Order: sequence, then structure tokens, then C-alpha cells
Amino acid sequence: MTEKQSIRSLAVLTSGGDAPGMNAAIRAVVRAGIARGLTVYGVTDGYRGLIDGKIRAMSARDVGGIIQLGGTMLGSARCESFRKPDGPERAIKRLREAGAESLVVIGGNGSQAGAWSLHEAGFPVVGIASTIDNDLVGSDITIGVDTALNVALQSVDMLKTTASSHRRAFLVEVMGRDCGYLALMTGIAGGAEVVCIPEVETTPQEVADGVAAAYARGNRNAIVIVAEGAKYSATDLVRYIEEHKDRLGFQMRATTLGHVQRGGAPGAFDRILGTRFGVGAVDRILRGETGVLVGLIRNEVTSTPLQEVVAVTKKPNLALLDFAKLLAR
Ligand code: F6P
Repeated sequence: MTEKQSIRSLAVLTSGGDAPGMNAAIRAVVRAGIARGLTVYGVTDGYRGLIDGKIRAMSARDVGGIIQLGGTMLGSARCESFRKPDGPERAIKRLREAGAESLVVIGGNGSQAGAWSLHEAGFPVVGIASTIDNDLVGSDITIGVDTALNVALQSVDMLKTTASSHRRAFLVEVMGRDCGYLALMTGIAGGAEVVCIPEVETTPQEVADGVAAAYARGNRNAIVIVAEGAKYSATDLVRYIEEHKDRLGFQMRATTLGHVQRGGAPGAFDRILGTRFGVGAVDRILRGETGVLVGLIRNEVTSTPLQEVVAVTKKPNLALLDFAKLLAR
């Protein structure tokens, strides 16, 4: 008997850092699953909840009124116990006890590594690409990126008004521990003078030069965008400018956006993306196409083997960093 014939139920969980649009994906998985005759279960608090057996049946109405909400109605967690050698086995036992025959994992890199380990242990899993970092192989864009980017931009736009009033330089630290995508896009769309990302080293003096050049051409403000994972952190950069303020002739204030970028209501793009991915995941489970990540490539909903997804982290297109430099003048 093929998986296609045998799968009659699925469970869905969200894992890792939440992302605006996860709720749209949960809603789509639950409703499309039920509409196609599956019994659907929701797992509370990601892999931790799975190990603890927090699995409940979901109805179409359980996911009413959530598409416009940020965060995840199922809860999320980063779970150490799942990473232990017996983690996948314990999770599969819990899923089978609850009656779930397959699993949809909505999350980023770490979450999809967990999905792959469950699949390798013999349980049918489909992943959905969701992280504000946009660092997943197998999707041009992931759930939450567009909303997070707009949140960051709104802050940059606001800072620019006060910066211009006082002829100030501002450094804005955005999320992205290992990936500079969010910082790069914020820098381009926000018209920053300098963008610092983990993939390319930018020295404190280069940052100072970028700000000095902005003042020299008559700017009333200067914006520097720094990814939290950049080699020189926001603190390092501000300290350097402070130490050299007499020579440079300016100071720099810092704003860390932090988790505010993961909050708030998902925009239209993330609601639609989450919905497309959710329906796409159910379709794949029904046709027995498991062990894959559902993502978006050239605007088509696609499947990429989880093994390929977890092997490497996607880097941003570095040609866009040259764009940012070219246009900061
Ligand atoms: O993975 C998404 C992300 O927001 C990263 O950009 C950030 O480095 C990390 O999560 C923060 O993790 P936590 O919410 O566990 O502090």
C-alpha cells in the first residue's frame, strides 16, 4: 500500500522563531486537510509539545479569526530534548498514540532539520518554509520576511525624520544571526549609507567613511543598517565612532529593533504565502510526497527534498550589496 492510500490524518506544529503568517499557514493546513477528508491535529509549543504529547484534534472553526494575527496560535519553542538521539523516536510514539499518521512542520532551518530527522526515522513529514531570516534553501522567500522587512523599514523611516532634525547618524540593528538578507533589504529599501551583514566584513572605519561621505554631500542624516550577526556588532561600531568622534566630527546613536520585527500583523503577502504553503503541504501529504519542504520558487509552490534543505544555509544575493553601495551617494 502506498503512503497516498494510507495517510488519513496529519498533525501540524510551528517551531523555532515565530514569523508573521504562520497562522495563515496553520489555518490553511487545518481547513484544507479537513476539506480533503483528513483528521487534523494541532501540536502545542513545537517539538517540545510534541515530546510532551500536547496534541489535540482541530476543527475548521478552531482556526477562525487568526489569519490576521501575528505569532502562532499553536505556540512555538526551541527544544533541546528533541535534539537528543531518542528525540525523534519519542516524538513519533506520541504522534502515533494521538492517531496522527503524518506531520507538517512550519518553521526555519532548525525546525526543518527536526522534520528531516523524523522523516529519516520513518515518519511522513512535510515542511513549510517559515522564518524572517529568509535563509532556507528551497524557497525564494519564506513566511514572515515581507512583514518583518516592512516593520524594520517603518522604524528606519521614523528614525530618519528625527535624525534629519538633528543632523544625526543612526545605526539600526536588525535581526539575522547568520544571514544578512533582512539587513540588506532594509538597507536598500530604507536608503541606508552603509549595510553590514555577516557574509561580508565591513570595518568600523568603513562605516565611519560611509557616514562621513553622507555628511560631505550634504545629507541631514545618515543611516547604517547592521545585521545582529555582522562581524562588528552594533556595540562595536558605536564604540568606535564614540572613541573617534573628535576626529570624525560626528557621533552615532543606535537602535536595536530586536523581536519587534517578528511581531505585528502579517501583511497581505505573508497571509497569501502562508495560505498557499498550507494548501500545498496538504496536497503533498495526500499524494504521498513527503520528506520535502514546501517553498516558493519563481512564484510557483514547489517541493525540495528536506535533505537538500538542511545541508546548507541560503545566502543573500551579494550583488545586491553592490546595489546598496552604488545608490548611497
Ligand atoms: O530565526 C529567526 C530569528 O529571529 C533570528 O533572526 C534571530 O537571530 C533569532 O531568531 C532570535 O532567536 P530567539 O527568538 O530565540 O531569541
